[in-house]
Amino acid sequence: MNLRDELDARVARALAAIGAGSYPALVAPAGKPEFGDYQANGAMAAAKSLRKSPRDVAQALLEELDRGDVIAGADIAGPGFVNLRLSDAFIARSVAADLAAPLQLTHPQTIVVDLSAPNLAKEMHVGHLRSTIIGDALARTFEHLGQHVIRQNHVGDWGTQFGMLITHLDEVGEHSSELADLEAFYVTARQRFDSDPAFAARARAAVVALQSGESLTRAKWRQFVDASLAHCEAVYTRLEAKLTRADVMPESAYNDALADIVVTIRGANMLTESNGAQCVFLDEFKGKDGTPLPVIIQKSDGGYLYATTDLAAIRYRAQTLHADRVIYVVGNPQGLHFKQIFAVARAIAGFAPSTMSLEHCGFGSMLGTDGKPFKTRDGGSVKLIALIDEAERRAGALVAEKNPDLAAQQRAAIAKAVSIGALKYADLSRSRSSDYIFDWDQMMSFDGNTAPYLQYAYTRIMSIFRRADAAVGSYRGRQPVLTDPLERALALKLLRFRETLDAVARECLPHYLCSYLYELAGMFMQFYEGCPVVNAATEVRDSRLALCAQTGAVLQRGLGLLGIPTVERM
Ligand code: ARG
Repeated sequence: MNLRDELDARVARALAAIGAGSYPALVAPAGKPEFGDYQANGAMAAAKSLRKSPRDVAQALLEELDRGDVIAGADIAGPGFVNLRLSDAFIARSVAADLAAPLQLTHPQTIVVDLSAPNLAKEMHVGHLRSTIIGDALARTFEHLGQHVIRQNHVGDWGTQFGMLITHLDEVGEHSSELADLEAFYVTARQRFDSDPAFAARARAAVVALQSGESLTRAKWRQFVDASLAHCEAVYTRLEAKLTRADVMPESAYNDALADIVVTIRGANMLTESNGAQCVFLDEFKGKDGTPLPVIIQKSDGGYLYATTDLAAIRYRAQTLHADRVIYVVGNPQGLHFKQIFAVARAIAGFAPSTMSLEHCGFGSMLGTDGKPFKTRDGGSVKLIALIDEAERRAGALVAEKNPDLAAQQRAAIAKAVSIGALKYADLSRSRSSDYIFDWDQMMSFDGNTAPYLQYAYTRIMSIFRRADAAVGSYRGRQPVLTDPLERALALKLLRFRETLDAVARECLPHYLCSYLYELAGMFMQFYEGCPVVNAATEVRDSRLALCAQTGAVLQRGLGLLGIPTVERM
């Protein structure tokens, strides 16, 4: 149990003892130091039903509160808040545990993370960067907390665009040099599709052949899919995103299940024909003028849709993967789509049991510094590989400027870590649902809430150990003596790593972890300024080195969960 939940449970037991057990304890970190370490607001809400003043309820709660050796002080503040102060001995003891270690759960949840999911005919562009980065951070966090994570890369490998590609391939020949640049190949095929009706007709016929399983067409399609996946994998490797071929569960994999999806919905008497298409109408979805909004399941020509595939995927995740939670890391514009398919899936027996949580983790767009959608100078979509190259170039210049004496090889390794860190952190440190401005100068800065700042804080800790001629490993797990308030504040912050991760996992909001790490690094800097380490007397030095080691471990682990590497020196 994390620290906050532990305190919450104690206050909840006290509330139950005074007959207010149905009210939540509402324990949260205290907003100001004079409010103690945590504050419980539960007595306020309970007062009314107990017909007592909030202060009296708070008083009764205090009398029942089991402090153990955890809570050193509890007092009433304001109209009936309860300020809780932890005991120094408890903090010192707890901070000696391996706070950065992954957890093991006896009953893990199965969590499916639907992430990245580019459309394969095109090259990966910035639109899929956020899904990849946020999804990866969430998956790593769940795993660290002991959950069973199944990554599902729901790539778009099916549909009309492949008809165009295959038809164009037929015409240029499969050894064409045009194939080297898939993006350009797609653009040419698309142009022909839009301008040449005969080409368009052939492309549509190719889609039919593909979907009916005609083998030659399938082979050509496979070639595109493989080439395109190899390209995505190159991006994942460069980004250090934990995604492999085994995580790919493409749209095409559901093709054979789609007919049955329609049959099942029809069997549930939920299917209505509208303009020749098969639709589901649900009361909760109405257009602006009150007319019912359909979820189209099958087009009038018999073709299936994005939504049909997603329904098949939900059923697979429930029945085959036995998911407890399914997290969709997909941009905000698809919000309505997910609301609709979740509602349809809930309404049909066997699609999504009520115990399975379906969560759309939407995110905003990446904007340029001009506040407009992030584009290349000529208005094209920015390719991810180009973006990563640019990040490495900038990070290289930064490292060269900051530390010109380093060997070229070492500099390159640091630049790589900084570039990946900067790209990911700029994204993850913003609240996921809002748009964010992609600003090179800001994200590459060593000041402020940035990856370089945190990576640098980590290297400073490592340099303390070098100067003290001490091994970090031997200081981890040692119990510090907390005398200075700065030591205590740092130790308490370290203890709150776990509750931060729990909050990230609960709400799927990685920026909580970013804010935490930034604050932790700030507290460490304050501690380090106020409390000499290397030159302190042996006992004090050892105690402080223990705090340094633990801070290093938590910073490294926290960044690791965001998918961000650390280096030993910068
Ligand atoms: N390929 C889709 C797109 O680029 C995203 C797929 C997201 N996942 C899902 N299960 N629908 O828009």
